[in-house]
Amino acid sequence: MSRTQKLLALGAILLPALAFPQEQDRMAQMQTIAASLGVRCEYCHSAPRGSGQVEPKKDVARAMMAMTQDLNAKIAAATGKPPTELTRVACITCHRGIPIPKQLNELVLQTTLQSGSPAAVDQYRDLREHFYGRQAYDFGEDTLINVANQISQARPTDAIALLKLNLEYYPKSSRSYVAMAFANTRQLDDTAAMANYEKALEIDPNNGSIQGRLEQLKSYHRKR
Ligand code: HEC
Ligand code: HEC
Repeated sequence: MSRTQKLLALGAILLPALAFPQEQDRMAQMQTIAASLGVRCEYCHSAPRGSGQVEPKKDVARAMMAMTQDLNAKIAAATGKPPTELTRVACITCHRGIPIPKQLNELVLQTTLQSGSPAAVDQYRDLREHFYGRQAYDFGEDTLINVANQISQARPTDAIALLKLNLEYYPKSSRSYVAMAFANTRQLDDTAAMANYEKALEIDPNNGSIQGRLEQLKSYHRKR
Protein backbone atom coordinates (compact mmCIF):
# COMPACT_ATOMS: atom_id res chain seq x y z
CA MET A 1 0.00 0.00 0.00
CA SER A 2 1.29 3.49 -0.79
CA ARG A 3 1.35 6.19 1.90
CA THR A 4 -1.67 7.91 0.33
CA GLN A 5 -3.64 4.67 0.19
CA LYS A 6 -2.80 4.04 3.83
CA LEU A 7 -4.01 7.50 4.82
CA LEU A 8 -7.22 6.99 2.86
CA ALA A 9 -7.81 3.63 4.49
CA LEU A 10 -7.23 5.12 7.93
CA GLY A 11 -9.58 7.99 7.03
CA ALA A 12 -12.26 5.45 6.18
CA ILE A 13 -12.01 4.19 9.78
CA LEU A 14 -11.58 7.59 11.41
CA LEU A 15 -13.89 9.99 9.57
CA PRO A 16 -17.29 8.44 10.33
CA ALA A 17 -16.08 8.01 13.90
CA LEU A 18 -15.04 11.59 14.56
CA ALA A 19 -18.49 12.92 13.73
CA PHE A 20 -19.64 12.51 17.38
CA PRO A 21 -17.94 13.55 20.62
CA GLN A 22 -18.35 10.13 22.23
CA GLU A 23 -16.57 8.75 19.19
CA GLN A 24 -13.56 10.89 20.09
CA ASP A 25 -13.44 8.98 23.36
CA ARG A 26 -13.65 5.82 21.30
CA MET A 27 -10.68 6.98 19.22
CA ALA A 28 -8.68 7.78 22.35
CA GLN A 29 -9.56 4.35 23.72
CA MET A 30 -8.53 2.70 20.43
CA GLN A 31 -5.19 4.52 20.38
CA THR A 32 -4.52 3.45 23.96
CA ILE A 33 -5.37 -0.15 23.15
CA ALA A 34 -3.16 -0.17 20.05
CA ALA A 35 -0.24 1.29 22.03
CA SER A 36 -0.78 -1.14 24.91
CA LEU A 37 -0.37 -4.07 22.53
CA GLY A 38 2.26 -2.40 20.34
CA VAL A 39 0.17 -2.95 17.19
CA ARG A 40 -1.51 -0.90 14.46
CA CYS A 41 -5.26 -0.50 14.01
CA GLU A 42 -5.25 -3.11 11.22
CA TYR A 43 -4.00 -5.79 13.60
CA CYS A 44 -7.59 -6.07 14.86
CA HIS A 45 -9.51 -4.23 12.12
CA SER A 46 -8.13 -6.68 9.60
CA ALA A 47 -11.04 -6.88 7.14
CA PRO A 48 -12.22 -4.09 4.83
CA ARG A 49 -14.79 -1.94 6.61
CA GLY A 50 -18.33 -3.19 6.12
CA SER A 51 -17.18 -6.40 4.41
CA GLY A 52 -18.65 -8.57 7.14
CA GLN A 53 -15.54 -10.77 7.10
CA VAL A 54 -14.33 -12.27 10.38
CA GLU A 55 -11.76 -10.32 12.39
CA PRO A 56 -10.33 -12.88 14.81
CA LYS A 57 -8.10 -10.51 16.82
CA LYS A 58 -10.94 -8.03 17.21
CA ASP A 59 -13.09 -10.82 18.66
CA VAL A 60 -10.35 -11.68 21.15
CA ALA A 61 -9.99 -7.98 21.98
CA ARG A 62 -13.72 -7.65 22.64
CA ALA A 63 -13.58 -10.59 25.06
CA MET A 64 -10.46 -9.07 26.68
CA MET A 65 -12.30 -5.78 27.22
CA ALA A 66 -15.10 -7.63 29.03
CA MET A 67 -12.53 -9.60 31.04
CA THR A 68 -10.70 -6.41 32.06
CA GLN A 69 -13.97 -4.86 33.25
CA ASP A 70 -14.70 -8.01 35.26
CA LEU A 71 -11.25 -7.94 36.81
CA ASN A 72 -11.67 -4.35 37.89
CA ALA A 73 -15.04 -5.09 39.47
CA LYS A 74 -13.42 -7.98 41.37
CA ILE A 75 -10.46 -5.83 42.42
CA ALA A 76 -12.88 -3.21 43.75
CA ALA A 77 -14.80 -5.88 45.66
CA ALA A 78 -11.63 -7.54 46.98
CA THR A 79 -10.01 -4.35 48.28
CA GLY A 80 -13.16 -2.45 49.22
CA LYS A 81 -11.49 0.76 48.01
CA PRO A 82 -13.56 3.66 46.66
CA PRO A 83 -13.23 4.32 42.91
CA THR A 84 -11.01 7.39 43.47
CA GLU A 85 -8.36 5.33 45.27
CA LEU A 86 -8.63 2.11 43.31
CA THR A 87 -5.75 1.01 41.08
CA ARG A 88 -7.22 -0.35 37.89
CA VAL A 89 -6.02 -3.11 35.61
CA ALA A 90 -5.81 -2.04 31.95
CA CYS A 91 -4.61 -3.73 28.76
CA ILE A 92 -1.10 -2.35 29.41
CA THR A 93 -0.93 -4.01 32.85
CA CYS A 94 -0.59 -7.42 31.23
CA HIS A 95 0.38 -6.57 27.67
CA ARG A 96 3.28 -4.14 28.28
CA GLY A 97 3.40 -3.15 24.60
CA ILE A 98 3.25 -6.65 23.05
CA PRO A 99 0.33 -8.70 21.68
CA ILE A 100 1.22 -11.98 23.45
CA PRO A 101 2.48 -11.00 26.87
CA LYS A 102 4.85 -13.84 27.70
CA GLN A 103 7.67 -13.19 30.16
CA LEU A 104 11.21 -13.17 28.75
CA ASN A 105 12.34 -16.09 30.92
CA GLU A 106 9.42 -18.19 29.63
CA LEU A 107 10.34 -17.35 26.01
CA VAL A 108 14.03 -18.17 26.47
CA LEU A 109 13.26 -21.40 28.32
CA GLN A 110 10.73 -22.55 25.72
CA THR A 111 13.07 -21.80 22.80
CA THR A 112 16.02 -23.50 24.52
CA LEU A 113 14.03 -26.67 25.18
CA GLN A 114 12.45 -26.73 21.71
CA SER A 115 15.28 -25.51 19.46
CA GLY A 116 18.44 -25.37 21.57
CA SER A 117 20.51 -22.57 23.04
CA PRO A 118 21.85 -21.07 19.75
CA ALA A 119 18.25 -20.25 18.74
CA ALA A 120 17.52 -18.90 22.22
CA VAL A 121 20.64 -16.71 22.12
CA ASP A 122 19.56 -15.27 18.74
CA GLN A 123 16.05 -14.65 20.04
CA TYR A 124 17.31 -12.87 23.16
CA ARG A 125 19.63 -10.62 21.14
CA ASP A 126 16.85 -9.80 18.70
CA LEU A 127 14.30 -8.97 21.42
CA ARG A 128 16.88 -6.89 23.27
CA GLU A 129 17.57 -4.88 20.14
CA HIS A 130 13.88 -4.12 19.65
CA PHE A 131 12.59 -3.80 23.20
CA TYR A 132 15.45 -2.67 25.45
CA GLY A 133 14.38 0.22 27.68
CA ARG A 134 10.69 -0.50 27.22
CA GLN A 135 8.26 -2.14 29.54
CA ALA A 136 7.84 -5.34 27.50
CA TYR A 137 10.65 -7.58 28.76
CA ASP A 138 13.00 -7.74 31.71
CA PHE A 139 16.53 -7.66 30.30
CA GLY A 140 18.01 -7.40 33.80
CA GLU A 141 20.85 -9.54 35.09
CA ASP A 142 18.59 -12.16 36.66
CA THR A 143 16.47 -13.34 33.73
CA LEU A 144 19.06 -15.54 32.00
CA ILE A 145 20.57 -16.69 35.31
CA ASN A 146 17.15 -17.97 36.39
CA VAL A 147 16.59 -19.84 33.13
CA ALA A 148 20.11 -21.29 33.29
CA ASN A 149 19.57 -22.50 36.86
CA GLN A 150 16.32 -24.16 35.81
CA ILE A 151 17.98 -26.21 33.07
CA SER A 152 21.57 -26.69 34.21
CA GLN A 153 20.87 -30.06 35.84
CA ALA A 154 19.55 -31.62 32.60
CA ARG A 155 21.16 -29.36 29.96
CA PRO A 156 24.37 -27.84 31.34
CA THR A 157 25.76 -26.98 27.88
CA ASP A 158 22.70 -24.88 27.05
CA ALA A 159 22.83 -23.27 30.49
CA ILE A 160 26.46 -22.25 29.92
CA ALA A 161 25.62 -20.75 26.50
CA LEU A 162 22.92 -18.57 28.11
CA LEU A 163 25.26 -17.51 30.93
CA LYS A 164 27.99 -16.55 28.46
CA LEU A 165 25.42 -14.38 26.71
CA ASN A 166 24.52 -12.79 30.05
CA LEU A 167 28.19 -12.03 30.73
CA GLU A 168 28.40 -10.15 27.44
CA TYR A 169 25.80 -7.72 28.79
CA TYR A 170 26.78 -7.98 32.48
CA PRO A 171 30.54 -8.61 32.54
CA LYS A 172 30.61 -7.98 36.33
CA SER A 173 27.92 -10.56 37.09
CA SER A 174 29.54 -12.77 39.72
CA ARG A 175 26.25 -14.66 39.97
CA SER A 176 26.55 -15.66 36.30
CA TYR A 177 29.99 -17.16 37.05
CA VAL A 178 28.59 -18.99 40.06
CA ALA A 179 25.74 -20.40 37.98
CA MET A 180 28.23 -21.39 35.30
CA ALA A 181 30.40 -23.15 37.88
CA PHE A 182 27.37 -25.16 38.97
CA ALA A 183 26.67 -26.17 35.34
CA ASN A 184 30.37 -27.14 35.01
CA THR A 185 30.01 -29.56 37.94
CA ARG A 186 27.00 -31.10 36.16
CA GLN A 187 29.33 -31.70 33.20
CA LEU A 188 31.81 -33.24 35.68
CA ASP A 189 34.30 -30.52 34.73
CA ASP A 190 35.52 -29.46 38.19
CA THR A 191 38.54 -27.61 36.78
CA ALA A 192 36.30 -25.25 34.83
CA ALA A 193 34.01 -24.97 37.86
CA MET A 194 36.89 -23.89 40.12
CA ALA A 195 38.07 -21.35 37.52
CA ASN A 196 34.56 -19.86 37.36
CA TYR A 197 34.25 -19.68 41.16
CA GLU A 198 37.58 -17.85 41.16
CA LYS A 199 36.31 -15.38 38.55
CA ALA A 200 33.21 -14.83 40.68
CA LEU A 201 35.45 -14.13 43.68
CA GLU A 202 37.56 -11.64 41.75
CA ILE A 203 34.38 -9.60 41.28
CA ASP A 204 32.91 -10.27 44.71
CA PRO A 205 35.93 -11.05 46.95
CA ASN A 206 34.11 -10.99 50.31
CA ASN A 207 31.36 -13.41 49.34
CA GLY A 208 31.59 -16.17 51.94
CA SER A 209 29.20 -18.48 50.18
CA ILE A 210 31.33 -18.52 47.00
CA GLN A 211 34.51 -18.98 49.07
CA GLY A 212 32.82 -21.92 50.79
CA ARG A 213 31.85 -23.62 47.55
CA LEU A 214 35.32 -23.17 46.09
CA GLU A 215 36.96 -24.58 49.25
CA GLN A 216 34.59 -27.53 49.19
CA LEU A 217 35.44 -28.33 45.59
CA LYS A 218 39.20 -27.97 46.26
CA SER A 219 39.16 -30.19 49.35
CA TYR A 220 37.13 -32.79 47.47
CA HIS A 221 39.95 -32.84 44.90
CA ARG A 222 42.70 -33.07 47.53
CA LYS A 223 40.98 -36.14 49.02
CA ARG A 224 40.85 -37.90 45.66
C1 HEC B 1 -6.51 -4.84 20.00
C2 HEC B 1 -7.53 -4.75 18.98
C3 HEC B 1 -7.88 -3.37 18.41
C4 HEC B 1 -7.02 -2.41 17.95
C5 HEC B 1 -5.51 -2.45 17.88
C6 HEC B 1 -7.85 -1.32 17.51
N1 HEC B 1 -9.16 -1.62 17.68
FE1 HEC B 1 -10.74 -0.47 17.15
N2 HEC B 1 -12.01 -1.85 17.98
C7 HEC B 1 -11.64 -3.03 18.57
C8 HEC B 1 -12.82 -3.66 19.14
C9 HEC B 1 -12.86 -4.97 19.88
C10 HEC B 1 -13.90 -2.83 18.84
C11 HEC B 1 -15.34 -3.05 19.22
C12 HEC B 1 -15.52 -2.50 20.63
C13 HEC B 1 -16.88 -2.73 21.18
O1 HEC B 1 -17.53 -3.66 20.75
O2 HEC B 1 -17.25 -1.95 22.06
C14 HEC B 1 -13.37 -1.69 18.12
C15 HEC B 1 -14.13 -0.64 17.62
C16 HEC B 1 -13.65 0.37 16.82
C17 HEC B 1 -14.48 1.35 16.16
C18 HEC B 1 -16.00 1.39 16.19
C19 HEC B 1 -16.54 0.65 14.99
C20 HEC B 1 -16.27 -0.82 15.05
O3 HEC B 1 -15.52 -1.31 14.17
O4 HEC B 1 -16.77 -1.49 15.94
C21 HEC B 1 -13.64 2.18 15.48
C22 HEC B 1 -14.02 3.34 14.58
C23 HEC B 1 -12.27 1.73 15.74
N3 HEC B 1 -12.34 0.63 16.57
C24 HEC B 1 -11.15 2.34 15.25
C25 HEC B 1 -9.85 1.96 15.57
C26 HEC B 1 -8.66 2.70 15.21
C27 HEC B 1 -8.63 3.98 14.40
C28 HEC B 1 -7.60 2.02 15.72
C29 HEC B 1 -6.12 2.39 15.68
C30 HEC B 1 -5.79 3.66 16.35
C31 HEC B 1 -8.13 0.83 16.39
N4 HEC B 1 -9.48 0.85 16.29
C32 HEC B 1 -7.35 -0.14 16.98
C33 HEC B 1 -10.38 -3.55 18.61
C34 HEC B 1 -9.22 -2.88 18.25
C1 HEC C 1 -4.97 -10.13 32.98
C2 HEC C 1 -4.06 -9.99 31.87
C3 HEC C 1 -4.62 -9.41 30.59
C4 HEC C 1 -5.31 -8.24 30.42
C5 HEC C 1 -5.74 -7.24 31.48
C6 HEC C 1 -5.54 -8.11 29.00
N1 HEC C 1 -5.01 -9.18 28.33
FE1 HEC C 1 -5.11 -9.48 26.33
N2 HEC C 1 -4.07 -11.24 26.55
C7 HEC C 1 -3.57 -11.71 27.74
C8 HEC C 1 -2.80 -12.91 27.49
C9 HEC C 1 -2.04 -13.73 28.52
C10 HEC C 1 -2.85 -13.13 26.09
C11 HEC C 1 -2.15 -14.20 25.28
C12 HEC C 1 -2.84 -15.54 25.35
C13 HEC C 1 -2.12 -16.50 24.43
O1 HEC C 1 -2.34 -16.43 23.21
O2 HEC C 1 -1.32 -17.31 24.92
C14 HEC C 1 -3.68 -12.06 25.54
C15 HEC C 1 -4.00 -11.95 24.19
C16 HEC C 1 -4.68 -10.89 23.64
C17 HEC C 1 -4.97 -10.75 22.23
C18 HEC C 1 -4.61 -11.75 21.12
C19 HEC C 1 -3.23 -11.40 20.63
C20 HEC C 1 -2.75 -12.32 19.52
O3 HEC C 1 -1.94 -11.88 18.70
O4 HEC C 1 -3.17 -13.49 19.49
C21 HEC C 1 -5.60 -9.55 22.06
C22 HEC C 1 -6.08 -8.95 20.74
C23 HEC C 1 -5.73 -8.95 23.38
N3 HEC C 1 -5.17 -9.80 24.30
C24 HEC C 1 -6.31 -7.74 23.63
C25 HEC C 1 -6.43 -7.16 24.89
C26 HEC C 1 -7.03 -5.87 25.13
C27 HEC C 1 -7.58 -4.95 24.06
C28 HEC C 1 -7.00 -5.67 26.48
C29 HEC C 1 -7.54 -4.50 27.28
C30 HEC C 1 -8.96 -4.21 27.08
C31 HEC C 1 -6.38 -6.85 27.08
N4 HEC C 1 -6.06 -7.72 26.07
C32 HEC C 1 -6.20 -7.04 28.45
C33 HEC C 1 -3.75 -11.15 28.98
C34 HEC C 1 -4.42 -9.99 29.26
